[in-house]
Amino acid sequence: MDFTVRPWKASDAAVIVPYANDLAVAKNLRDAFPHPYTLTDAECYVNSCVELEGHGQLCRAIVVSGEAVGSIGLFPGNDVYCRSAELGYWLGRPFWRQGIMTAAVREICREGFQALDIVRIYAEPYAQNAGSRRVLEKVGFTLEGILRSSVYKPLGRPPERCLLDSCVYGLLREEAAL
Ligand SMILES: CC(C)(COP(=O)(O)OP(=O)(O)OC[C@H]1O[C@@H](n2cnc3c(N)ncnc32)[C@H](O)[C@@H]1OP(=O)(O)O)[C@@H](O)C(=O)NCCC(=O)NCCS
Repeated sequence: MDFTVRPWKASDAAVIVPYANDLAVAKNLRDAFPHPYTLTDAECYVNSCVELEGHGQLCRAIVVSGEAVGSIGLFPGNDVYCRSAELGYWLGRPFWRQGIMTAAVREICREGFQALDIVRIYAEPYAQNAGSRRVLEKVGFTLEGILRSSVYKPLGRPPERCLLDSCVYGLLREEAAL
């Protein structure tokens, strides 16, 4: 499916709410990604991306047919981790399994290694997130380790939470097909 990746615009906020307000998306992300996901949450996120554009992080909307339907970003670390960037992404459920995120991850890694002073991009999918793990493997990331019981996450009805393993996947600058 055709898609583009571009900087966020304030008008994207209202458009992403129905895609972001989905437990199937939220359960695979950190709790900083709220569920339910409201217009205020979307405005806060999009505004922060607009403000931080050009200040060292890459935060992009994934756009299908002119509509923002997902998000992908690279967030450089601090202190001794300043040459690494964390990769995060999600896509609206109607667009899953059409190759979009594999292509989007490939593209943002290429852009990230060109635009940012980093040597490593990493992501931390939960171990049971087969789709996300497959995306990273297809792009050439290496599974560097599994952090056992590292994540305490609501998966069922609140306040149920459970412990999950998370995976660390890394891609070095010299491994990326630029
Ligand atoms: C994970 C996610 C980003 C995948 O995006 P996508 O655009 O559907 O991925 P792609 O279409 O590029 O698929 C890449 C590969 O993963 C496989 N895949 C995708 N979803 C899968 C799933 N749920 N289970 C098993 N494999 C899956 C595809 O079949 C494809 O592999 P193949 O080419 O060998 O057939 C999307 O499902 C999503 O946004 N999930 C919720 C949020 C999330 O998990 N974010 C990542 C947090 S680390």
